[in-house]
Amino acid sequence: MIRVLLVGHGAREHAIAEALKKNTLVELFSFMKSKNPGIAKLSEYTAIGNYNELGKITNFAEENSIDFAFIGPEDPLNEGVVDELKKISIPSIGPNKTLAQLETSKSFARNLLEKYHIGGNPKFRVFTKENSGEIKNFLNGIEAVVIKPDGLTAGKGVKVQGDHFQTKEEALKYCSEVLKTHPAVIAEEKLDGEEFSLQCLTDGKTVIATPPVQDHKRAFEDDKGSNTGGMGSYSCESHLLPFLKKAHVDEALKITRQVAQSIYLETGEYYNGIMYGGFILTRDGVKLLEYNARFGDPEAMNVLPLLKTDFVSVCQAMITQELSRFKVEFAKKATVCKYIVPKGYPEKPVKEKITIENIPKEARLYYAAVEEKDDALYMTGSRAIALLGIGNNLEEAEKIAEEATKSIKGNVFHRKDIGTKELIEKRVRHVRVL
Ligand code: GLY
Repeated sequence: MIRVLLVGHGAREHAIAEALKKNTLVELFSFMKSKNPGIAKLSEYTAIGNYNELGKITNFAEENSIDFAFIGPEDPLNEGVVDELKKISIPSIGPNKTLAQLETSKSFARNLLEKYHIGGNPKFRVFTKENSGEIKNFLNGIEAVVIKPDGLTAGKGVKVQGDHFQTKEEALKYCSEVLKTHPAVIAEEKLDGEEFSLQCLTDGKTVIATPPVQDHKRAFEDDKGSNTGGMGSYSCESHLLPFLKKAHVDEALKITRQVAQSIYLETGEYYNGIMYGGFILTRDGVKLLEYNARFGDPEAMNVLPLLKTDFVSVCQAMITQELSRFKVEFAKKATVCKYIVPKGYPEKPVKEKITIENIPKEARLYYAAVEEKDDALYMTGSRAIALLGIGNNLEEAEKIAEEATKSIKGNVFHRKDIGTKELIEKRVRHVRVL
């Protein structure tokens, strides 16, 4: 048997658990902040705890003679769980605390691209208290600006001119505010284009791309409302996107390969795990928005169910640095994922009971922010249930996902437009105009 520890409790980790359990030799041991019913069902044992309780995680791993760990979310990576597991000779899929800076410090990736002459950076500068007097000049030299605190902000710290504030004075004020609580702040040129996610698997030497995915950040249809963790996503049977050519995907992969190489040159350590690049196709080509050191949520649901290669063997090859010997294959299918979220999400979500009635057999369901109490299912405030359709094309996949949303009863909503022809055509038009 192969004993795997999975850390994480969301729909992303439910999809990871499902992919691991396709290998019948796997026994899954899950450490979760709150009990995800889907992951629990796939696991031999589960333990509940916070992701900074590193002793609890390592004890759970040791007691269960774990062969390797898979770290789902960024918080335990940032806490250094991979370093602690390594001390007791348990290898992990996921970078150690230093290399997780790829996500946890927004200046880390920007500086690497600059130092190693890798394409994809917009105009940017990193400011600390020492050089904060130069912020105003820099802001005045670019058309519109994005301000990013240097550090994990649970998706809430990035502010964009035109969305979160209007003037350069407001940008300057926000920079000063950030510098009171963070060591640095990054100011960068705002880019116009279409975003896409390229999630790559790497052992630090070899980088393999999964199919590109487009996520939808805004809460409401037609990209209205607040930014969320992602309301849904799609991928195409061509392993491209309707607005994205092969050359664009190749460019994003080239950047990621160069970044993996430069991480080794910079730190002397090989990055092992997921490098998820958030890219944007602009009039000047492919640019990097940010890297994450984990799979995307919902984007994990678009790629993992398409894996034709045994995921456990891929993980083992990442650990032994033999990924170059592997051909990782994905089914040539389209996917559409739609999140069911509580009414009021993200600002004032209700935390009410939901029921699941007759999910169509072609659809897949992944549990996210829900908990079971007295045999009933309650939403806990964030994205609740992800529904995935897989089809021969987007139309088929969208129909399956949309049909499945009707099975979730309660005070909820979702974006009906994700994966539809109308929204996709809008994306294509946007790129054409650029
Ligand atoms: N889908 C956005 C994220 O996972 O960060």
